[in-house]
Amino acid sequence: MITMPTAETTALADLDQTWVRAQFPSLAQTVNGHPAVFLDGPGGTQVPQRVINAISNYLRRDNANTGGAYATSRNTDAMLAEARAAMADFLNCGADEIVFGPNMTTLTYAMSRSIDRDLGPGDEILVTRLDHDANVSPWLALEEKGVTIRWAEIHPGDCTLDVEDLAAKLNSKTKLVAIGYASNAVGTINPVKEIVRLAHSFGALAYVDAVHYGPHGLIDVAALDCDFLVCSTYKFFGPHMGVLFGKREHLQRLRPYKVRPLTDAIPNRWEWGTLNHECIAGISACVEYIADLGLHVRDPNRLASLDGQPRRPSPHGPSNRRAAIVAAFESIHRHEHALMNRLIAGLSKIPRLKIYGITDPSCFAWRCPTLAVGVVNQTPEQTPLALATKLGDRGFFTWDGNYYALNLTERLDVEKSGGFLRIGLVHYNTAEEVDRLLQALREIVE
Ligand SMILES: Cc1ncc(COP(=O)(O)O)c(C=O)c1O
Repeated sequence: MITMPTAETTALADLDQTWVRAQFPSLAQTVNGHPAVFLDGPGGTQVPQRVINAISNYLRRDNANTGGAYATSRNTDAMLAEARAAMADFLNCGADEIVFGPNMTTLTYAMSRSIDRDLGPGDEILVTRLDHDANVSPWLALEEKGVTIRWAEIHPGDCTLDVEDLAAKLNSKTKLVAIGYASNAVGTINPVKEIVRLAHSFGALAYVDAVHYGPHGLIDVAALDCDFLVCSTYKFFGPHMGVLFGKREHLQRLRPYKVRPLTDAIPNRWEWGTLNHECIAGISACVEYIADLGLHVRDPNRLASLDGQPRRPSPHGPSNRRAAIVAAFESIHRHEHALMNRLIAGLSKIPRLKIYGITDPSCFAWRCPTLAVGVVNQTPEQTPLALATKLGDRGFFTWDGNYYALNLTERLDVEKSGGFLRIGLVHYNTAEEVDRLLQALREIVE
């Protein structure tokens, strides 16, 4: 009998998973004799071997400070320039619009403090109930200066943003809209382009938190037209670092708090003190990994669209690298969505298990494969922490609590019951892992 390929098997086969999984040494670990299943991507993803190599090679060969008149310092300068070029390809912007920092939260506090210099009583900033607190508290801090913070609400039924409510709260006093690209708790993807357009129509800046979206979808800051976008490389297969894109005009116009000897040129005027060079070396490697992934898709048409023969992306061909990144995310999207459909279908069949967020398949384009679940009328053995612990003992790495999406857990009134259990899929997860997780959850919950 000939088995016809289904949409799911086609999507899963598109990504060369043997190649993918071979890139990540940590995936081979076991826990209590069980294969480790990394469903903790929303908290931080695993890294490919080339990222580990880039970090240790930098420390072995080029370890130096910047701007010195000798070989290792020049190599460090060149490495930083290449990492900026790689991130510029990743986000589709100029390399001088890329600012490195320790993490998204620190970068956002730095930027909110500088934006604050031009604001005062009567000005307004709009934040959302759906966002991680790192895109809320740095703006709430501006209340000290008399700035009014307004909140865009959500539709609690499916945890989508109430865009009408957001639009109604914009006015000529709004100076900035802080918006998440995707929710790190329930996976909702926001209509960011539309919200940027709305913000601009009132003369407000748009500040986008793309930390959760980063591993799942292609980011194009030029197409979004956002003023700022922040992400964290440790969420998309790189080291623990944050990256901020700022439109050139803003990075030049706004006034950073900085030491006097530091250049006033962008982007360096926003990078204070000595950066984490070894991790930045790892950032180039993680972008190269994603670009390389774009050359490992199995669909020959996809490869043909990469402008001729498949070839390794290289620092000498940035436009090829962007094309390869585009191909990688098409493939990642197809793979993740096939897994997500399978996971949601399975979870829906477990009695008393509630999925928060979008569950209507016709709306799946508006969600990431990040699932927040909980047991209805939970017993003390079924709290999110208890479930995560039992799953952890079996090798499944999930998360419990609010993951700093505090405004959402408060709005949904799940704070006092322990938040949610979060299951996060990325492209290195497999259909077999999903099936095993479902089996384990059925046994634990029932
Ligand atoms: C959506 C979102 N925004 C912001 C952050 C904070 O990022 P960082 O740890 O780089 O400060 C996180 C971290 O989990 C997140 O998921």
